[in-house]
Amino acid sequence: MSFILGIETSCDETAAAVFDTQKQKIISSDLFSQIKSHEMFGGVVPEIASRSQLEKIDVIVRQALNNAHLNINDIDVIAVTNKPGLAGSLIIGVCFAKSLAFAKNKKLIGINHLEGHIFSSFLCEDGSINRDLKFPFLCLSVSGGHTVLYLVKDFGEYEVLGQTVDDAAGEAFDKTARLLGLCYPGGPLLEKIALEVGNVDFFKYPRQKFAEDNLNFSFSGLKTAVLYDLINRKLFDQHIGKVTSNMNHELQCKVASSLQICIAEIFEDRIRRALKKYPEVKGAAFVGGVAANSFIKKRLSELCARRNKIFVAPPKKFCTDNGAMIAFVGSYKASKGQFSDFNMDVFK
Ligand code: KG4
Ligand code: ZN
Repeated sequence: MSFILGIETSCDETAAAVFDTQKQKIISSDLFSQIKSHEMFGGVVPEIASRSQLEKIDVIVRQALNNAHLNINDIDVIAVTNKPGLAGSLIIGVCFAKSLAFAKNKKLIGINHLEGHIFSSFLCEDGSINRDLKFPFLCLSVSGGHTVLYLVKDFGEYEVLGQTVDDAAGEAFDKTARLLGLCYPGGPLLEKIALEVGNVDFFKYPRQKFAEDNLNFSFSGLKTAVLYDLINRKLFDQHIGKVTSNMNHELQCKVASSLQICIAEIFEDRIRRALKKYPEVKGAAFVGGVAANSFIKKRLSELCARRNKIFVAPPKKFCTDNGAMIAFVGSYKASKGQFSDFNMDVFK
């Protein structure tokens, strides 16, 4: 087994990558991001996303093969995200992968997108594999669609310790950006403007509390707290659903800064409690789109350093959706003979 092609189309990114199993390295990773198409709607529009996946899938797969200096005949296994995600987007990747596997007689593996994010913990900037990370470790996976804390015991072996009972943390960033009259995706923009006011906690939004041994998360209350705080400060008009003329850039920065600190502290609290409950873990990983946030990353990294635990977060390009994590998970599934058949679909 030498080369694994990974394909990812679960949401608004069309991505493909090649993993070289001999060198144990991602040798190409290509992506088309649809952010521009969804920006004006304040979030991902599923129908636009799937149409765009259809337009780009062959271009991106070809690009990943070219950049790896390979052609499809050199590929041994095609790994493709088959769940969870937007059905219309997933279907494009899955049908493309199945057709290619059938026509070229390649082995096929369906990959769970969330497993892809967990094991992106091992990916370094140059595509090599980070060997410092030892099992078992905690993995906090946070994006626009999920917020989950795992105990990771081995490749392909992990347990959910806690997860959001309502919204994802990335959604809290995206929805707050919308309340401030800013565009999608909110996370990177709010991180940038929070820095302008020194990452200070101006508005002290509520941190939701759970019992000591409950490692779940909840972000819908935070979103509502931000909304009502803006209404009370006459910065948001709930009747027309728009920011008022009182809003200015400095206030936007202060809201962003307060939100970011609140989310960072919620994550710190869960990691702190999980480290207490599972003292055997060697460290913690922070993955998913929100792990691109340098401020939160620094807070979690400092917490782990104080506890003498290793902390890892993938480079930004492997935090947000990408084909590399899918190709990498494909590689260890292939080594265990865990292939899928052509009945694989996007719901099971
Ligand atoms: O993993 P991802 O690309 O797609 C999903 O599977 O959802 O994550 C996208 C999410 C969005 O909610 C976006 O606002 C958030 O990740 N995000 C960030 C940052 N960069 C992306 N959130 C906070 N700070 C960032 N720098
Ligand atoms: Zn994702």
